[in-house]
Amino acid sequence: MSYLRLGVNIDHVATIRNARGGPHPDPVHAAQLAADASADGITAHLREDRRHILDDDVERLIRDIDLPLNLEMAATEEMLGIALRHKPHAVCIVPEKREELTTEGGLDAAGQHTRLVRFCDELGAAGCRVSLFVEADPKQLEAAARLHAPVVEIHTGSYCETEGDRQKHELHRIVEAARLCDELGLECHCGHGLSFNTVGPIAAIPNITELNIGHFLIGDAIFGGIKSSIKQMRAIMDSARASGTGQANS
Ligand code: PXP
Repeated sequence: MSYLRLGVNIDHVATIRNARGGPHPDPVHAAQLAADASADGITAHLREDRRHILDDDVERLIRDIDLPLNLEMAATEEMLGIALRHKPHAVCIVPEKREELTTEGGLDAAGQHTRLVRFCDELGAAGCRVSLFVEADPKQLEAAARLHAPVVEIHTGSYCETEGDRQKHELHRIVEAARLCDELGLECHCGHGLSFNTVGPIAAIPNITELNIGHFLIGDAIFGGIKSSIKQMRAIMDSARASGTGQANS
């Protein structure tokens, strides 16, 4: 049985901090607590509008936290410069629109090959493990392989936001996508919208190696603390992976 890594996305600790403009609560402190709770990595999205994570947070996450950092960023020249300066362990390229509340939909790796190829090459040459955040769509996975991205992260938003037969259909697409990743030689990660209720069936898919989870964990942490929320998520992931099943909306 392969190990399933948990990357904790700490963006929304920064959202709360920025609501008042001071230093509290500090996302880097949250990252330290996530490390203490045995998270396998930290994920942070440096957005163009700096609505949550700030440049100084990225610097401190790299300097002060021992876990690997997965930096999510749009494919812009500004972000490429920042990533090449800091050389985080991993860079996940995401689509970004200023007006969106969160990352809506996956990257069009197929339609933007010419634009993305330089980002993948330069980040890869700098030693960053490049991942592309895409929908569970064979066309996008094949495009990621053509871009020589070693990793894709499958967008689980549609699966998390639906119920019943529709959710089963979305889950099936993710299972098939993970299988295709194996054939294409892509490491398969998943993320977006995952919660205690939805994580099981995704964690049970054996060819997925990492989940990146943020908003639900940070929200749940308000009630019982971030370490407790991470440990509970870890336990659900481990049990689904061990049993090979996970009940959606159980
Ligand atoms: N993975 C990627 C690529 C994302 O953009 C996000 C949201 O920032 C996540 C995972 C985490 O999603 P959520 O905060 O809904 O758990």
